[in-house]
Amino acid sequence: MSERTRQLLARVKELKAWRNAVVLAHNYQIEEVQDAADYIGDSFGLSRIAAETKADVVVLCGVHFMAEGAALLAPDKIVLLPEPLAGCPMADMVTAEALREKRKQHPGATVVTYVNSSAAVKAESDICVTSANAVKVVNSLDCEEILFVPDKNLANYVAKHTNKKVIAWEGYCLVHHRVSSDDVHKAREAHPDAVLVVHPECRPEVVAASDYALSTSGILQFAGETKHRKLIIGTEMGIMYRLRKENPDKVFYLLSQGLVCPNMKYTTLGKIVQALETLQPRITVPDNVRDGARRALLRMLEIA
Ligand code: 13P
Ligand code: SF4
Repeated sequence: MSERTRQLLARVKELKAWRNAVVLAHNYQIEEVQDAADYIGDSFGLSRIAAETKADVVVLCGVHFMAEGAALLAPDKIVLLPEPLAGCPMADMVTAEALREKRKQHPGATVVTYVNSSAAVKAESDICVTSANAVKVVNSLDCEEILFVPDKNLANYVAKHTNKKVIAWEGYCLVHHRVSSDDVHKAREAHPDAVLVVHPECRPEVVAASDYALSTSGILQFAGETKHRKLIIGTEMGIMYRLRKENPDKVFYLLSQGLVCPNMKYTTLGKIVQALETLQPRITVPDNVRDGARRALLRMLEIA
């Protein structure tokens, strides 16, 4: 670790104490940001911590929808997103207006929205899910048909693991969708004795060719518990840091070198320091969508 990184980590610590702040980082964040975090987790874990924390300030090191989710669940807290340009292209593949139109075409369907979405879209939804709880939440619903928004790959995974009729929105994660069957074939050939674990945001054929499909925290838990010594990992490369740190006796291979989400790499220690010094950029939720979005998120938390 460089002297500069050490100084920045010390400064973050100082500022956290001064502001009574908590730093939450997604599993895809860069290494030093994960080192600065009080809690590292998947989207579900981060939203739970945001809802429960006693801190006055939440620094969300992730992408915009995560900070917005924290602002919804912790309305009395100051929620900071150190890099305001960190967005999620998949979340931008659906708008509230387009969802309202689609809903009219399927009046009997329950609208299930992946947390990778804006608060405005959540407000148009019946309930939210994350990749960690999508199957459980959908199975708990008293309905036959769901409209799943915006990830068509996670929708496909849900359809395979529930008895609901699933209408999928035409959205996808640019990073996970890029992984192909050819990548799986090559990785299997290079590491024949490794187990393949992927994220359900991958294409259906990639998920079908894998041994397990899990959320990022699910992958971390599996890696810690499994007897397998070698694992091929099919999700964003940021997770490799924790996997290797927490399992020094195991070997991890990234399924594809294309598994890099640029939006998850924008946050740096310098930006966290700046955010804590200035209490900016602050993420708030527009009044007209706050209650609806919060209701959809809380409904998920109650079930999951
Ligand atoms: P999880 O960490 O919830 O599995 O989500 C992955 C993701 O793509 C978040 O942007
Ligand atoms: Fe969005 Fe995919 Fe990046 Fe997650 S990895 S933030 S779903 S683009």
